[in-house]
Amino acid sequence: MGAIASARKETIRTGRMDHTFHYASDRQSELWLDVHRAHSPAVNDSGVIDIYRRLFNKIAAQQNSAPVHVIGLGCGGGAKDRLLLETLKKAGSRIRFTPIDVSPALALLSASVSREWCDEPLHPIVADLRQFPKLPKALDPIDDGAARLYTFFGMIPNFEPDEILPALRGWIRPQDRLVLSANLAPALTESAADYRAAMEIVRPQYDNPQTRNWLTRVLHDWGLESLEPAYSLRIEGKNGLLRFCANAGTMQLFFSYRYTPERLHATLAAHGLALGDGFVSPSREEGVWIAAPQRN
Ligand SMILES: C[S@@+](CC[C@H](N)C(=O)[O-])C[C@H]1O[C@@H](n2cnc3c(N)ncnc32)[C@H](O)[C@@H]1O
Repeated sequence: MGAIASARKETIRTGRMDHTFHYASDRQSELWLDVHRAHSPAVNDSGVIDIYRRLFNKIAAQQNSAPVHVIGLGCGGGAKDRLLLETLKKAGSRIRFTPIDVSPALALLSASVSREWCDEPLHPIVADLRQFPKLPKALDPIDDGAARLYTFFGMIPNFEPDEILPALRGWIRPQDRLVLSANLAPALTESAADYRAAMEIVRPQYDNPQTRNWLTRVLHDWGLESLEPAYSLRIEGKNGLLRFCANAGTMQLFFSYRYTPERLHATLAAHGLALGDGFVSPSREEGVWIAAPQRN
């Protein structure tokens, strides 16, 4: 049995859909881009775009015009990586860029929107990050082991922390850097009550026709469309965190954790990563930070 057929069988056995099914095909990528354009604060909120600009300026100043290899982990449409490359390039760095995504269409889209800021040939990679423990070795032939700047934008919410953070921590060598962002629950304080109330504020970003259309399309492809009328979106607690969960009857289609800054710090620290400089948007709905392996 091929890898896709066996992942599908596993989804049906466990009642949990692997998120990569929501992105991997060209059509799924298009549907996700529709959701992203309509509902992502990074597209529609200038206060969010501004925090990326501010942090990228800081990174460019630290880079001091040295050459840089940027690796976009789960690059999506590539707009944030593109802004980073543009900022680094304008500050005088020579740029190499490697977008990586489970979706071939998104890896290629990201490469094409970034091309004008790159000095070296682009090598888009299509891969499942959860199955790529040797990622740094795979990059060696591309950059001869040069220092790397990994980006991990908007990715943390869609993984169980244990399923990606150990790998991410393992990829960062002492000479490398990591910049990551997360969609946040815009809580006024870190209290449990404020955390839950904040989830309701961002619910419309998930509870909308475009997201439902995106997340239920796979059911139609698999002949499981009879499950669609049982679609629901709810807020669920897990290990002290809250997340949005889209289900179709008993099948979990998707989840998205919303962290608060403190909860994000704690989750990363549990996996040996520390947040450094960063900014949270005025809406408190998104934050972006430089991160690094913790010093012992
Ligand atoms: C929420 S989007 C974030 C996209 C982009 N970084 C941004 O901030 O706009 C998640 C992206 O990660 C990709 N992705 C999801 N799971 C993945 C996996 N296991 N391995 C590689 N890419 C994955 C999806 O195809 C999608 O492009």
